[in-house]
Amino acid sequence: MGSAGLSTSFIIGRGQEAMAFQAGTMPLPDDGGMIRISSNENARGPGRKAMEALQHAISPRVGRGYPPDYTGELVDTIAATYGVNRNNVIVGTGSGPILEAGVRAFCTADKPLVTAAPTYGTPDGTARRINVPIKMIPVDRALSLDLDAMAAAATGGGMVFLCNPNNPTGTAHNAAAVERFVRRVKQASPGTAILIDEAYIDYVHDPAVKTAVPLTQQLPGVFVTRSFSKAHGMAGLRLGYAIGQPETVQAISRAWSLGSVNTLTAAAGMASLKDPQHIAEERAENARVRDFTLQAFKDLGYQGSDSHTNCIFLDLKRPASEFRDACRALKVQVGRDFPPFEKTHSRITLGTMDEMRQAVQVFRKVLTAKASTSSAA
Ligand SMILES: Cc1ncc(COP(=O)(O)O)c(C=O)c1O
Repeated sequence: MGSAGLSTSFIIGRGQEAMAFQAGTMPLPDDGGMIRISSNENARGPGRKAMEALQHAISPRVGRGYPPDYTGELVDTIAATYGVNRNNVIVGTGSGPILEAGVRAFCTADKPLVTAAPTYGTPDGTARRINVPIKMIPVDRALSLDLDAMAAAATGGGMVFLCNPNNPTGTAHNAAAVERFVRRVKQASPGTAILIDEAYIDYVHDPAVKTAVPLTQQLPGVFVTRSFSKAHGMAGLRLGYAIGQPETVQAISRAWSLGSVNTLTAAAGMASLKDPQHIAEERAENARVRDFTLQAFKDLGYQGSDSHTNCIFLDLKRPASEFRDACRALKVQVGRDFPPFEKTHSRITLGTMDEMRQAVQVFRKVLTAKASTSSAA
């Protein structure tokens, strides 16, 4: 019997046994025929163990929820994963609320946010909403965060946002470079907080790129955020966390609501953290899909950068909106504009291999159609 043929009632009726049989091979999301490779989600979803934990957590116990089951154990599991104490950890309904809280905790009208262009937008979006000035430092010619320029801009700042690896460019800095940057900023400007966003670090393929969690334990105001929405495949379950010194993470959770993590999410998150084998497999599959997609673009004459994330950022030599609209007409949804590269570059999330095989046919159609139009012009 193929797993795709299992009905919901069969799964509920058979409980864990049916789930264990089919987890990992479930039908992938159907978006009405649209291939959604625009938001850096993970169409493969969680691993088998996380799916089993979810299934196991569905019980009358969810009627008891103050506090929700597993949420305390989740914090302990995160702490144990990094060898820190539970008071070094805060959790939220995604890492997004923690990014927002960080800006609110450490930036004011006279303590700017230092961020990059382009990078993930929640910190600068928050700063704009609460009238915090923003210093946006353009990425360098290799599309990497310009650490020297960011460090120079950080003096007197409220918080620096360092996305490593960076979304959308996919670039990553190694542990030595991050440590040099953090120590330089803290030496020149001890009161400036540093947020190192490691949402994509599970996808990194350079062993010299490492988590900055150990640094967070040495320096006040330095904290790392992580997301379960990427390699863990749980964007719809909403789970993220931050690690820092107790005073640092307390300041963040005082500044803004981080949401309330629920029983099912906590159970799945804990199981996924305890399943590094799945993350290794996910990283390998993402790399396979990335290499396939980059090769397809190369064959069309477009070179992508080496990405350490689940997206690629390419110079397609045309406005992102033009490429996006043409792809959408053929049922492929790619990423939004990323100023200052919106006239040239597009971001494409890496979906499943099947999705990318279909998407590549659309890319080929769109890119070659443009070429023949412009050569005729
Ligand atoms: C760099 C980065 N950080 C944080 C997030 C927020 O993710 P979530 O709130 O789902 O954890 C995203 C989402 O795309 C991201 O790209």
